[in-house]
Amino acid sequence: MTVTVLVGGFFGDEGKGKIVSYLAQKDKPVIIVRGGAGPNAGHTIRDENKTYKVRMLPCGFLNPDARVMIGPGVVVNPAVLLQEIKEFGAEGRALVDERCGIIEDSHISRDSELKSKIGSTGSGTGPANADRAMRTLKMARDIKSLSLLLADVPGEINAAISAGKDVLVEGTQGTFLSLWHGTYPFVTSKDVTASGICADVGLGPTKVDEVMIVFKAYVTRVGEGKLGGELSAKEAEGRGWSEVGTVTGRPRRAAEFDFELARRAVMLNGATQISITKLDVLFPECAKKTKYTELSTQARRFIKDIEDRLATPVTIIGTGPAIRDIIDRRS
Ligand code: IMP
Ligand code: MG
Repeated sequence: MTVTVLVGGFFGDEGKGKIVSYLAQKDKPVIIVRGGAGPNAGHTIRDENKTYKVRMLPCGFLNPDARVMIGPGVVVNPAVLLQEIKEFGAEGRALVDERCGIIEDSHISRDSELKSKIGSTGSGTGPANADRAMRTLKMARDIKSLSLLLADVPGEINAAISAGKDVLVEGTQGTFLSLWHGTYPFVTSKDVTASGICADVGLGPTKVDEVMIVFKAYVTRVGEGKLGGELSAKEAEGRGWSEVGTVTGRPRRAAEFDFELARRAVMLNGATQISITKLDVLFPECAKKTKYTELSTQARRFIKDIEDRLATPVTIIGTGPAIRDIIDRRS
């Protein structure tokens, strides 16, 4: 029985979606439960020839045998969620906690101010969390269109754990977007480190076995806020590091892998394992490799350097966009 919490180590967009999809299919957890802020998160998953863009539904939906759930700490946009459940065929196995907060149109329009101030995604997540603190936010149990999806998510996941089943907890955003630990005020509207994600889903700290932190092989950031060692747009383009945001379509700013930030992220999350994504972007000769021994000397040196300097094993390595482009060193 293993309870794994997966979190982002930098500023979001580390490629968590792909890693969650892989673990959901490989480890076959019975529940994949999502914590984090709300539909400000965007995950892109590529499975064979299909690309999925997900904002509300847990990325583990690609395992058809798992139930996917959203914990009470998350704010939900019902229209986005219902659309994704339908589009991705998760009917009958997607559940929402009755205490999830609800984003309404007014939150989205109020977010436009934050958009220009701190580069918010404009999804209404921050204003909804503000209303929640003011005790005026509606909850999922007040919303008719969600009535068939309602559940006691903490009850469900803790019952599964008591029955000896595996549960995967999916974080969103990244450590330095945390309202507590990030680059305030250029942060999201709540804590998104492992402890916060556990609180979001109703999981006590003694129940967690593994904390997997995901780092991209380089750092990207959308919106405002400090990015140490930021490259010019031209330089990022030249290295093949230019990306656009899943939710906003804005260009992502880029920098080299930051060991100092990464070390702090490992500390803040209590990480027990590291996952490195997009290794093939740094080392094209490693594209689509599935065995560690097939990696180039340079790439292996990079991974070894991370393990030594962060004193944490690198167990999963992404070598391409598809879910099967992965090296799993856990066994
Ligand atoms: P908000 O959470 O929409 O208010 O945005 C606050 C800041 O966090 C902005 O810089 C966003 O671009 C960033 N942000 C929020 N969620 C994500 C995410 O899932 N990935 C990357 N950046 C995010
Ligand atoms: Mg994203």
